[in-house]
Amino acid sequence: MKHSHSLFLKVTSMREQLQRMRDAALQSIEQADGESSLQDVRVRFLGRKGELTGLMKGLGALSPEERPIVGQLVNTIKDEIESCLESALTSAREQEINRRLQTERIDVTLPGRRLPCGTRHPITLVIEEVCDIFAGLGFSVAEGPEIEHDWYNFEALNFPPEHPARDMQDTFFVDNNLLLRTHTSPVQIRTMLKQKPPVRIIAPGTVYRCDSDATHSPMFHQIEGLMVDKGVTFGDLKGMLTVFTNQLFGQKTGVRLRPSFFPFTEPSAEVDIACVICGGKGCRVCKQSGWLEILGAGMVDPEVYRHVNYDAEEISGFAFGMGIERIAMLKYGINDMRLLFENDVRFLRQF
Ligand code: DAH
Repeated sequence: MKHSHSLFLKVTSMREQLQRMRDAALQSIEQADGESSLQDVRVRFLGRKGELTGLMKGLGALSPEERPIVGQLVNTIKDEIESCLESALTSAREQEINRRLQTERIDVTLPGRRLPCGTRHPITLVIEEVCDIFAGLGFSVAEGPEIEHDWYNFEALNFPPEHPARDMQDTFFVDNNLLLRTHTSPVQIRTMLKQKPPVRIIAPGTVYRCDSDATHSPMFHQIEGLMVDKGVTFGDLKGMLTVFTNQLFGQKTGVRLRPSFFPFTEPSAEVDIACVICGGKGCRVCKQSGWLEILGAGMVDPEVYRHVNYDAEEISGFAFGMGIERIAMLKYGINDMRLLFENDVRFLRQF
């Protein structure tokens, strides 16, 4: 009797403990936040060292009659906890997927990120535009070296040694015979020495003069033009330059030629266009004159033909030369030439 009483106590207390454990487990499941804390609950109650396993060790103290009864209860509780865990896990995973679908949503209609893209330098733009216009008039591009012989840069262009005309161009000398070319005109000589008439070339390039301020740079760019053939006249020169200025600055741009002097042309002219800023009324840029000088030109001097073995009785031709920086400044409204060479990307991005 005594024995069965204490057995009864044991069984009762095991039942109570199992019930409490079940309640605690179900409460933990309810309170668990997310998959990993549910896994913690599983370990805590059903794991190898978990609470239910611990209680099952007490089964051994029960009588053989009571053992299956309590054992069955243990199984029922274990199943209950397990199925609760399973459904809690399923809904935790669902919630997690929904959360990710919300937060990791991708709007495929958003425009892509633009890759930064460089722009061409205004000097390059003007060179390309001028070359394109003259390509349309049948000219092809020629080039020459930037370190040039005195003979090509001066002598063959009819600047005799010690001639005062050389002072118009402050020269950087490399030695007695070599210099940094002061203009693109030596390309005329190189072309005519290589090629018999007809000649129709345009020669863009870098030139150098010992001069530096807001409108002069020691390094700058020119484009030279040369056309030699039978019967080329000053009228052809004027016609081509009018087509050119109209294409570059607009159809109604006024053009005028003023008499001038260059050693390698006779007659020579300076070519003005009506001021692109004020339209000819007079402003600060054109110094109130209404006109802007943009290039030098003329009929090739027979003395130049003599240096390249062309027969001045047979052929005639014209040449012209222009500064690119000045044209770029006029075209884009740039007021200081130095901006063109500082390579400030905030300036360059505007073109
Ligand atoms: N070479 C001259 C200069 O640099 C520009 C020039 C003037 C070129 C008249 C020519 C020309 O071909 O005919 O100032």
